[in-house]
Amino acid sequence: MLNDPVLLNDWHVVAYAPNLKAGKPLAVRLLEEDLVLWRMGESVQVWRDLCPHRGTRLSLGRIEGETLICPYHGWAYNQEGQCVRFPAHPQQKPPVTAHTVVYRAQERYGWIWVSLGTSTQDVPPFPQWDDTSFRKVHCGPYLMRASGPRAIENFLDVTHFPYVHQGLLGDPAHPEVNDYEADISSDGVVARDISVWQPDPDGTGHGARVTYTYRVLRPLSATFIKSSSGPKFAMFFTITPISESQSLAWMYVAMDYGDLTDEQIRQFQDDIIKQDIPIVESQRPELLPLDLQAELHLRSDRTAIAYRKWLRELGLTFGAV
Ligand code: FES
Ligand SMILES: [Fe+2]
Repeated sequence: MLNDPVLLNDWHVVAYAPNLKAGKPLAVRLLEEDLVLWRMGESVQVWRDLCPHRGTRLSLGRIEGETLICPYHGWAYNQEGQCVRFPAHPQQKPPVTAHTVVYRAQERYGWIWVSLGTSTQDVPPFPQWDDTSFRKVHCGPYLMRASGPRAIENFLDVTHFPYVHQGLLGDPAHPEVNDYEADISSDGVVARDISVWQPDPDGTGHGARVTYTYRVLRPLSATFIKSSSGPKFAMFFTITPISESQSLAWMYVAMDYGDLTDEQIRQFQDDIIKQDIPIVESQRPELLPLDLQAELHLRSDRTAIAYRKWLRELGLTFGAV
């Protein structure tokens, strides 16, 4: 088990809830740990994906009644992860040591969240989730061969828009960013009133300056909301840290305007992130440097500077250097 209490004690998205079907175990990986997820009625089980008998992956097994059956010798595990039957010895009561490692899971915002540790906090807030004036469109997940903090920092970065997303999110003729503040608190980082030029911020075909407010809610979860003259567009972005240099990016778009189909919105986000991925995967060192002397910073990098400082204050080590 890795030694980063900050991430071990946090909640992480591991699956899109509609993809976890009743009757079928699902294998996922989080923080270098293989996990099996399975559903029984309303509850979601998340266990280490390993049968203590001979180390077989339980996710290759099947669900029978209220038990998960190991594919190798048929040991049956109940919802507490306790083995309740050795088929080769039907009269023998399995001891308490015949037990899988069980983690905590909850379903929120249409995602399955898992904590491998003893988190006392809740999953991060998604203010637009219950606001019916915003439609929500699920996008991803996107695999990035990059560290989680590098991926989050890319999400927080506006000065790459004119270069990486030219014509979509930015215009090289208007690369300037205003002076803005980024504040660190115990709740994370907030950077308000970041003004950038976009060629078509709200689907009307007209370029305009828009204002972004970013919030980093957890080391690997962040949101922004942007507004121009009226319409609002928000995004919730969260990373599954598979390993230190492999991340799965999940997002929701939340918007209160427009008549694009879900598929069109998803396609747009797919196109945007396909432009980000080669950039983020190329960054060296792969792990995000938390020592501010290690890379160069401009005033327009204040959100990233605050993010790095905050991660350092928290003591994050996984995915950072
Ligand atoms: S390895 Fe699972 S029952 Fe033997
Ligand atoms: Fe980008």
